[in-house]
Amino acid sequence: MSTPIAERLGIEFPIFAFSHCRDVVAAVTNAGGFGVLGALAYGPERLEIELDWIDEHVGDKPYGVDFAMPVNYVGKGGGEEASFESLDAMIPEQHRRFVEQLLARYGVPEMPAELDGGPVAAAGLGVDDMGPNQVQVCLDHAANVKMIVNALGPPPQYVIEQAHAAGMLVGGLCGSKVHAERQVGIGVDVIVAQGTEAGGHCGEISTMVLVPEVVDAVGPDVPVLAAGGIATGRQMAAALALGAQGVWTGSMWLTVSEADTNPDALENLLAATSRDTVRSRAMTGKPARQLRTAWTDAWEGPDSPGTLPMPLQGILHNEAGRRTQRAHARDLIGFPVGQIVGRMNKVRPARDLVLEMVEEWIETTERMSAMLGAED
Ligand SMILES: Cc1cc2nc3c(=O)[nH]c(=O)nc-3n(C[C@H](O)[C@H](O)[C@H](O)COP(=O)(O)O)c2cc1C
Repeated sequence: MSTPIAERLGIEFPIFAFSHCRDVVAAVTNAGGFGVLGALAYGPERLEIELDWIDEHVGDKPYGVDFAMPVNYVGKGGGEEASFESLDAMIPEQHRRFVEQLLARYGVPEMPAELDGGPVAAAGLGVDDMGPNQVQVCLDHAANVKMIVNALGPPPQYVIEQAHAAGMLVGGLCGSKVHAERQVGIGVDVIVAQGTEAGGHCGEISTMVLVPEVVDAVGPDVPVLAAGGIATGRQMAAALALGAQGVWTGSMWLTVSEADTNPDALENLLAATSRDTVRSRAMTGKPARQLRTAWTDAWEGPDSPGTLPMPLQGILHNEAGRRTQRAHARDLIGFPVGQIVGRMNKVRPARDLVLEMVEEWIETTERMSAMLGAED
């Protein structure tokens, strides 16, 4: 069983797996899927190390790299204004006080100076200064990197041009039909139609409604991957029935044995039900689905000063995150994750999940075909 996009990329199964963790990317790729490294937090030097490592572990198999270069963020254009120091200085005292009070309520101490890890990474930080070099690192790995994907809006034009010149596909995450049409209009080859169930930044339309809408809007020549709430073969069969050429998954890889998810977050993910997520700006400044925690509740509460725009909210969140993790303050420790978290109850190897998904997809498709046969 295959689909045109799987054939074009030379992969066995049209299962795309987004992960920030290179071990997961390599494991899914080696199991016949297409791992995609989330490179948002990696500067060019670190990205080079990650991609070299993946290359060494996947042989000649293809994989992808994902960036989140937003259309709008504070510091757009780069330069001195976009330095970590000047963005950090823009965070109002009122917001810092709100965070201090919240952390104090949960017994989270200050970070000792000797453990301060320097500037945190955050979505929307360093986009202009690091972006071109990050893309160059991907181009240098074009023997294996066969697709570059962008989230939070259309990729910058230079990304599309350089990727195409290197023979790579360009993908874009979209949460609405209009955004999908706009991306195809500027040269994006593959649309990831991501429903509101998804972990991370997401729109408001459900996968079930969004995918066929996008498929019909972009036409038969543009491959669409369905994202949001997909982790089983039945869900994969449903996605293909909706017209997608593959599934783009994220949450399910957070709890595999290869993942580097921090132990407290992992416990929270394993315990969560499908009701325990919320779409909130509290983590990055843009709406992102994540575990509901005391942190997300507080930002929605009556004392909240209101969230800040990207990347200021992300800086505040990630600085606090270092402290909450050190203190193991589990009530405050969230994670971007989708509603599928309710099924993520056990730690298992990524390969097993890929193969189980494929098996169930085949069984489901056979079951559906048999229904037709029964009519004869
Ligand atoms: C922890 C986490 C981080 C994510 N970060 C990004 C990101 O940096 N860039 C991106 O394109 N998508 C990101 N996503 C979204 C995924 O690419 C994917 O669309 C989504 O996880 C699919 O829905 P699912 O979570 O229900 O599988 C993230 C998702 C998760 C769970």
